[in-house]
Amino acid sequence: MKIFLDTANINEIKEGASWGIVDGVTTNPSLIAKEKRDFKQVVKEICEIVDGPISAEVISEDAEGMIKEARELVKIHENIVVKIPMTVEGLKAVSVISKEGIHTNVTLIFSANQALLAAKAGATYVSPFLGRVDDIGSEGMDLVRKIVEIFDIYGYDTEVIAASVRHPLHVTDAALAGAHIATIPMKVLEQMVKHPLTDKGIASFMKDWESAFGK
Ligand code: E4P
Repeated sequence: MKIFLDTANINEIKEGASWGIVDGVTTNPSLIAKEKRDFKQVVKEICEIVDGPISAEVISEDAEGMIKEARELVKIHENIVVKIPMTVEGLKAVSVISKEGIHTNVTLIFSANQALLAAKAGATYVSPFLGRVDDIGSEGMDLVRKIVEIFDIYGYDTEVIAASVRHPLHVTDAALAGAHIATIPMKVLEQMVKHPLTDKGIASFMKDWESAFGK
């Protein structure tokens, strides 16, 4: 499974990239707004750090505006993936720009039918928001499982990004569900590294070493 970082923070992206396990980055308007910096400049810097798909989201709500923004965004870097919200206008935009070879990530997916329509429109990726589904008392991982199964049955090339990841178990379960990618906040990535028995094991190895050989 590929791992994307779900952040627009350059320091987090530099740190995550230095671990050698980051395959791409996803941003959204809220993540960009948190940085209080020029959108295109931030995206350009991300592309210079991570050599993989970098999602940048349009803010237009009509197809014409989305298409115009998409054509501008892909000029920033060849790795740009244009993130488009799952609406009728979004589908219209994806069906046009996917034919131009522009890679797309259809976002705010909350049902298997939405994912199916996005794939049919030519989306490169779909992003089911599993944490937000959990928040309203439904099972986000069921959604990921269903989408993976439908894409498998019909042989769609569209890849499933498990998004809105809130904790390490989401990543394990998304991997077991067959998600191609999990996009993960830096905090969750850090939690994934940790295990108390690893820390305890290191401490006891060091103690034994020092008692035999000194510091
Ligand atoms: C990723 O593509 C999404 O923008 C992100 O995972 C949303 O996460 P949130 O529900 O924690 O805001």
